[in-house]
Amino acid sequence: MKRKILVTGGAGYIGSHTVVELQEAGFEVVIVDNLSNSYDSVLDNIKEITGIKPRFYHFDLTDAERTKDFFAEENDIAGVIHFAALKAVGESMQKSVLYYKNNIFSLLNVLEGMKMSGLDNLVFSSSCTVYGQPDTLPVTEQAPIKKAYSPYGHTKQIAEEIIQNVSSLDGLHAILLRYFNPIGAHPSAKIGELPLGVPNNLVPFITQTAIGIREELKVFGNDYDTPDGTAIRDYIHVVDLAKAHVVALRRMLENKQKEKLEVFNLGTGNGFSVLEVIQAFEKVSKQKLNYRIVGRRPGDTEKVWAATKLANEELGWKARKNLFEMMESAWNWELALKKRNS
Ligand code: NAD
Ligand code: UFG
Repeated sequence: MKRKILVTGGAGYIGSHTVVELQEAGFEVVIVDNLSNSYDSVLDNIKEITGIKPRFYHFDLTDAERTKDFFAEENDIAGVIHFAALKAVGESMQKSVLYYKNNIFSLLNVLEGMKMSGLDNLVFSSSCTVYGQPDTLPVTEQAPIKKAYSPYGHTKQIAEEIIQNVSSLDGLHAILLRYFNPIGAHPSAKIGELPLGVPNNLVPFITQTAIGIREELKVFGNDYDTPDGTAIRDYIHVVDLAKAHVVALRRMLENKQKEKLEVFNLGTGNGFSVLEVIQAFEKVSKQKLNYRIVGRRPGDTEKVWAATKLANEELGWKARKNLFEMMESAWNWELALKKRNS
């Protein structure tokens, strides 16, 4: 019998790619999502890739009673991957209470439901934001957690602490995955990132500019202490990231964890500047991008990339796809979206 996995936020960008990988690895998936940043059409797109439409519950995980009912109804879940969260750093500055409420209440309700069901395997979406600007690079999992720049980043720090405490007190088994910068889309171009409104993130802004939805890309700052002056990130293909969730889940289900609570960075270990990302895009799309250098974006980190040793050696996972493959899949997704909407 297939083991059943709850994927909260499974209609979203990383969630949908993970659902595909889970189904392809032989798991049964149940999604809970309130569609606050996604569409239920993604369920059909997942089916086009895997042949299986995941079961879907449409409700808000901040609703404690509804969440309890869900766990009572679905009483044979083997593990939970908790993606559901609001994630726009800039928006969190304006709507801090909403971010705390959404991201923390939903986590607490999921933990409560898991406890009620005697379920103790949780994979949690964290972020390299928890490190702020690290003192040493590449940043390891042991690096100090610095004061968060944004309420969004703070919700990830608080969530990590809550999970750590619940794990040490209550026996919860958990893996915290700290993602670096996920980009790109599934090679089928049937699922990808669907930002609502004007994208905040670099890569969707690049592809939307290239396709004519946006007039120009603004490059935020070229006076950083980096080789070309633009900020550096560790970009990781979303499919590589999705696969890491299957590996982490199996590790828990097969009782291979070294400790009840484990933390892994998920990145490639390579940093690329904004200009290098643009150059990679221009190469794969064979067109010039309209961009302009402007001032820094407040709150941005100068440079960060991951130490990947722990994930590579202990988790047994490694990111495989390079920056060109990431940019190519992002561009194919943008082209597919245009076709779909025309
Ligand atoms: P996303 O917005 O595409 O997906 C999140 C999903 O959660 C959406 O479908 C949304 O509708 C749902 N959701 C939000 N609040 C909910 C609630 N209260 N109840 C039910 N559903 C709810 O975002 P994503 O990029 O796929 O991110 C997934 C997770 O990874 C998030 O926790 C995010 O903070 C984390 N993360 C993302 C990035 C990134 O750059 N994309 C980086 C680091 C960490
Ligand atoms: N950038 C531009 N122009 C844009 C958008 C971004 O120059 O229009 C630059 C930024 O200044 C930054 C780089 O591109 O130097 C990457 O920016 P993103 O907004 O794509 O990503 P961030 O690193 O700022 O943040 C992302 C997610 C966060 C997450 C973090 C770490 O948005 O939610 O990665 O995982 F926490």
